[in-house]
Amino acid sequence: MTTSASDTRVPVYFDCDTGIDDTLALVYLLSRTTHRTVGIGTVSGNVSAEQGARNTLDLLKLQGFEDIPVAVGQFDHFRAPYAGGPAHIHGVNGVGDVDLDRGGEPIAEDAADLLIRLSHEHDGALEIIAIGPLTNLAIALERDPSLGSRVARVTIMGGAALAPGNLSPAAEANIAHDPEAAAAVFEAAWPVTMVGLDVTMHHRLTHDDREQLAAAEGELQQTVAAILETYYRFYDTILGVRECTLHDPLAVAIATGDVVPSLAPVVKVEVETGSGPARGATVADLRGMYRGNPPVEGARHTVVLTVDEPFGPQLLQELLKA
Ligand code: BDR
Ligand code: CA
Repeated sequence: MTTSASDTRVPVYFDCDTGIDDTLALVYLLSRTTHRTVGIGTVSGNVSAEQGARNTLDLLKLQGFEDIPVAVGQFDHFRAPYAGGPAHIHGVNGVGDVDLDRGGEPIAEDAADLLIRLSHEHDGALEIIAIGPLTNLAIALERDPSLGSRVARVTIMGGAALAPGNLSPAAEANIAHDPEAAAAVFEAAWPVTMVGLDVTMHHRLTHDDREQLAAAEGELQQTVAAILETYYRFYDTILGVRECTLHDPLAVAIATGDVVPSLAPVVKVEVETGSGPARGATVADLRGMYRGNPPVEGARHTVVLTVDEPFGPQLLQELLKA
């Protein structure tokens, strides 16, 4: 699956822990005509890497993209065991306990090897969108430290620069699940865009949006509406309103350029890997904000702080069309 000279679409390696908002992100990404998903790796987070691959393959079948290779990542985190996913948020199976029709099977390669291979096949053009813990990316960097030089950009859903965490007061879940992996990803020689809780908590699908999906004729839309039920039930307890936040799909929309942040300084981000209460925090050096965020020499971490246009309505339209 190399990029031919006539194919101008951006090749994407997508790394996910499918997951309800990962489901929205996947459906949205595959609806983009500017980007071509050349491979998907799954990581333990919302569910195990293996279950994430099952969900991804089943969703690919539902959306008619069975030719995209899916590779299972390592079960455990980079330097620690995987402790299981939050069934109260995503359901026991990760897709709101909806039974999906069975899709294909994962490829034999693991996710890190798939990423390394794709980085050679699309040298300099490959973009990574990672919406789960960063385990696979860290393993790939460890196996091949030159990986960073062949990747055009990494966009992650993860972290919180100025906002509170969600897994702990200081840390966002994707980073908190595997802080050592996240630290390796921020240290590597590639540009990283961090789409964190600073923005993702503010973009939502509403109760009415879900009703529209449920009432649509398409099997895909009806299935997504059914999957969303569990997510809405959880977010009702957090937000006090029947809406859900759009963590992973917003990261995809920023990566594809469909959503342009209104404030996203390029600074240095470090990840707290100690064992104290700030474990998993993303420490972004935002001190330049008091003088208009001047360029920081050598900085390569774009931290998305504000997105003005509500993304929910845009996502809904794309889901209805998908
Ligand atoms: C992130 O954690 C996961 O539960 C979601 O899928 C998202 O990637 C939000 O903190
Ligand atoms: Ca996710």
